[in-house]
Amino acid sequence: MAERQQRETIPIRYKTTRPILPLTPDRKVIETYVNDTTTIQLRRFEPTDLEHVHRLRTQEEVMVSTSAGICDANHSVTQTWMDRFLPPNDASTFDLMLWAKQDDEPWEHIGVLGCHKFEPVPHIGYMLRTEWWGKTIATKALQAFLGTWWTLKRRQVEVDLRGVEDEHGLHLMRLEWDDSKTHLNPSVDMQAVPEILLAEIDERNIGSIKVVERCGFKYRARETVVEEQGSFVLLDYTATNPTAQFAGKSNDKAARFCLLSERVIIAGLESLESPF
Ligand SMILES: CC(C)(COP(=O)(O)OP(=O)(O)OC[C@H]1O[C@@H](n2cnc3c(N)ncnc32)[C@H](O)[C@@H]1OP(=O)(O)O)[C@@H](O)C(=O)NCCC(=O)NCCS
Repeated sequence: MAERQQRETIPIRYKTTRPILPLTPDRKVIETYVNDTTTIQLRRFEPTDLEHVHRLRTQEEVMVSTSAGICDANHSVTQTWMDRFLPPNDASTFDLMLWAKQDDEPWEHIGVLGCHKFEPVPHIGYMLRTEWWGKTIATKALQAFLGTWWTLKRRQVEVDLRGVEDEHGLHLMRLEWDDSKTHLNPSVDMQAVPEILLAEIDERNIGSIKVVERCGFKYRARETVVEEQGSFVLLDYTATNPTAQFAGKSNDKAARFCLLSERVIIAGLESLESPF
């Protein structure tokens, strides 16, 4: 019975979208206000940012909550991490440097925030220097990021779950599928689902959980990760592309889909002009 249920509920292939990157090479920013005195900007990574990033990635309180778990041992380790976000790798990541300015003080690098991984589904991540914690900066920065993220131009992709051997990857792709509002028909192997953005958070990281919940992410699942040093629980929170419509309607200029009998096909997809 369990096997039968599995066959009926696990789709074989689905269509969704992913942002088209990289953007034009201008170093432009997302800017928002935290309060009357503090402004924050999200800027692209530049090769000259190494020292700033190393300073951030050698704060123990910050790094203990990251997947690395430890401080970068030297600049070379930081450089390897940073390379993931510099050209040409900015075609498959969208991570940004976070800067802050208080009153007339100079701009200060305070963290990073963005999409550090696209596959199997896009992942959001962020880290701030400890001096800047507890001032709602991560919440405001993530809200501003999402405003840009969901308006990036997108392309259609086809995802095939057959042959995915990585259990974790399969689990994450199922999260994307489950966000579908479409009617599941086991005889139809290709349906369209809205793209998601995933936050994987250690259940002990209350601050980060508050940040995603305040930005509209919904709790979806929990996974126990077993490592040599012990096990911990990762919570999966997701946000769903708010511009995707699956009822054959268009949503302003954002996304257009059409519904053909029981089969949903992405007929056309337009995105607002990129702010970059
Ligand atoms: C997670 C992180 C980005 C939060 O940044 P931040 O700017 O302090 O976040 P915000 O101020 O927007 O919101 C955090 C909220 O959680 C609360 N919080 C933080 N730690 C908490 C804890 N241990 N218990 C209860 N609440 C906590 C804060 O007080 C704040 O709530 P409040 O506004 O009601 O006071 C920052 O702590 C950080 O960089 N941590 C290290 C890296 C990391 O954990 N990254 C995320 C990995 S998933």
